[in-house]
Amino acid sequence: MSKGKAAGPDRQGLKVRVKTAAKRKLSSTLWLERQLNDPYVAAAKKAGYRSRAAFKLIEMDDRLHLLKPGATVVDLGAAPGGWSQIAAQRVRSRPVDPEPRGRVVGLDLLEVAPVAGAEIIQLDFLDDDAPARLRAMLGRPADVVLSDMAAGATGHRPTDHLKIVALCEAAAAFAVEVLRPGGSFVAKVIQGGTEGDLLAQLRRHFAQVRHIKPPASRSDSAELYLVATGFRP
Ligand SMILES: C[S@@+](CC[C@H](N)C(=O)[O-])C[C@H]1O[C@@H](n2cnc3c(N)ncnc32)[C@H](O)[C@@H]1O
Repeated sequence: MSKGKAAGPDRQGLKVRVKTAAKRKLSSTLWLERQLNDPYVAAAKKAGYRSRAAFKLIEMDDRLHLLKPGATVVDLGAAPGGWSQIAAQRVRSRPVDPEPRGRVVGLDLLEVAPVAGAEIIQLDFLDDDAPARLRAMLGRPADVVLSDMAAGATGHRPTDHLKIVALCEAAAAFAVEVLRPGGSFVAKVIQGGTEGDLLAQLRRHFAQVRHIKPPASRSDSAELYLVATGFRP
């Protein structure tokens, strides 16, 4: 894996068709077909990234330049590890990286196989003691807090909105506690789900707050990323 900028998806050859099978639901067949024809899935595999989501972080960071060499990064909702891989590469926290060396600390409900240059614990971020445990692991203020956390979809849109807003609010409260002045916060949200209190609170604490939809985020998904930069404690 080199710098992470070169490995864009190849959009040619999107032609795999999956036959319906008696034991497979139509929704599973369509999901499989989409995976097999997705240029980002193929590019992630080729580059050795654990997730196609890695490209969302690459695309956002190529635009925003938040992950600087030597920076300390928190990755919330890290499994299977794609964002941690990109963050570790860019802040230079891997053993092979030259100075200045950064740091990546992450967390997920699921177990994450070791990622070079990242320390990831298995924990529910909504547990009362999760923020304190992460702060203890960090031992210093963070430059960037990332959250790609997403609760399993129930299929009931209002419920899914509430769940993702709750995760985003908890991540924002944590970011305000651990960021150093000038730091940044990036969190997954759902279109229409973050108006009101959360945006107002973030605007009080950050010089700039905006929404970004990176090209790798599927156009038929309501997912967006909230990007808050220039933290003012
Ligand atoms: C879209 S995935 C993250 C993908 C990751 N950014 C990558 O590139 O590999 C969302 C993750 O959020 C995690 N998650 C959801 N709720 C969580 C919670 N309360 N605490 C910790 N992790 C959570 C899920 O387990 C899931 O692994």
